[in-house]
Amino acid sequence: MTSPDAVLEITDVTKTFGVVAALKDMRLNVRAGRVHTILGENGAGKSTLMKILAGVYQPTSGTMTLDGKPYAPRNPQDAASAGLTIVFQELSLCNNLTVAENILATREPSTAGFINDKALVRKAAALVADLKLPVSVTARVGELSIAQRQLVEIAKGLSIDAKVVILDEPTSSLSDSEAEILFDIIDRLKADGVAIIYISHRMEEIMRVSDDITVVRDGSYITTREKADTTIEELIALMVGRNMEEIYPPREVAAPLKTTAPVLAVSDLSREGEFSGVSFDVRPGEILGFFGLIGSGRSEVMNTLFGMRKASAGTVAIDGTEVSISSPVDAINRHIGFVTENRKEEGLVLSHSVERNISMVALNAFASRLGWLKRGRERVAATDEVNRLSIKTASLDTIAGALSGGNQQKIVLAKWLLTAPKILLLDEPTRGVDVGAKFEIYKIIRQLAAEGTAILLVSSELPEVIGMSDRVVVMSEGKVTAIADPDRMTPEKIMSFATGFPS
Ligand SMILES: Nc1ncnc2c1ncn2[C@@H]1O[C@H](COP(=O)(O)OP(=O)(O)OP(=O)(O)O)[C@@H](O)[C@H]1O
Ligand SMILES: [Mg+2]
Repeated sequence: MTSPDAVLEITDVTKTFGVVAALKDMRLNVRAGRVHTILGENGAGKSTLMKILAGVYQPTSGTMTLDGKPYAPRNPQDAASAGLTIVFQELSLCNNLTVAENILATREPSTAGFINDKALVRKAAALVADLKLPVSVTARVGELSIAQRQLVEIAKGLSIDAKVVILDEPTSSLSDSEAEILFDIIDRLKADGVAIIYISHRMEEIMRVSDDITVVRDGSYITTREKADTTIEELIALMVGRNMEEIYPPREVAAPLKTTAPVLAVSDLSREGEFSGVSFDVRPGEILGFFGLIGSGRSEVMNTLFGMRKASAGTVAIDGTEVSISSPVDAINRHIGFVTENRKEEGLVLSHSVERNISMVALNAFASRLGWLKRGRERVAATDEVNRLSIKTASLDTIAGALSGGNQQKIVLAKWLLTAPKILLLDEPTRGVDVGAKFEIYKIIRQLAAEGTAILLVSSELPEVIGMSDRVVVMSEGKVTAIADPDRMTPEKIMSFATGFPS
């Protein structure tokens, strides 16, 4: 049924990649001035549908209309001139260009082919100021944090006026207060009559921003609900096809006693311009959460512990012995694992197979201990991890880049699980992962802790930090502002330490 204010209609759209049917008879009816959320598990087909709308892919069959007219974009420029813009799930920015150049990449204000630098910077600066983004337009994107890059990606998508704006997991690297910036932008777009298609795996956020919610499962349309007529529980059940009672698995083994000797002790660790005087310790089997806002220095501390950058002062001790970790290889040899927040650049080789990616770090173990059996063992181990994490892939030989975002994230986790680390650094491990799969990942984190692995869990989702951690390190502007038991700390308290204004 067509409603009077329908802007975009999709009927019976299918898309196949070789033998994989990513979409089967998809339909959607998006209305002006409303936020329409697409909800579904990892690999359900959400991004594929968005890429079809944006002209990146062409549908195998089906029809689309925009403003009542047939709509069949051949490329993103086509889509943009028809009034549809997209903020992609995977960051598409060039690291060696500036923020301004990236934002206006496709439409630099040029005269006769020359890039007019000043006009470019001015135009981008106006947009960034208008959107109230905390980034400098002259900075190179490569120097920015992942969260800042995500905000730039949003600015890039919004740099053209559009009737339909697609936001594919725009908040996956943002913490709550940064997400507020985006929600303000969304409110303004709505007031201007723009239709917004929204994708997220954060249920509270979905309930906050959506007007309409369409649930998809295995490439098929399931149903559409108005937000006011549904609940988180119902949506999860529709999405995964079963009821889910709990979001965080309970601890089965008690947290280690405070008297247990720490496996990792960090004292007064500093890096000029990034963080200073950072001290904490973590015991075997303990899950130590890290919470903070953009620029709080959490990821920088993790990168330093993993030997990716050098500390300017302070000490790190493992099992009571002071160590100097000068490279990631060094860290791996000391049984430290690292699930980076930057899966696209540091965590995965997108052009390699799923199997190669999973067995990459553990390869030495396979080579030395197993000799000629190596290849077979590698395959068995990779299969185990694919099953354990329910990674949705056509085969072990599929190229990692062809997997959905959430499934790529699971591969990064799988590759470190194979190395059985003594200390595991997890930077946003459930970024872009659906609720069902999150639960599986939390169970694995709990299981690793029960086996004695010390876990450092960086997360921008406060409920996740509180739900999983034994203690929480709160950081603000490069300093530790509190280390606390979640029992004794409310979300409000942790947030106040994170913003640097403890109440
Ligand atoms: N270029 C491609 N080649 C082959 N298969 C693909 C390609 N793009 C997507 N697929 C497959 O299509 C299915 C749907 O993927 P899609 O990226 O649309 O999922 P999604 O719903 O966005 O998931 P997520 O929540 O993890 O981002 C997946 O099984 C994926 O592996
Ligand atoms: Mg996706």
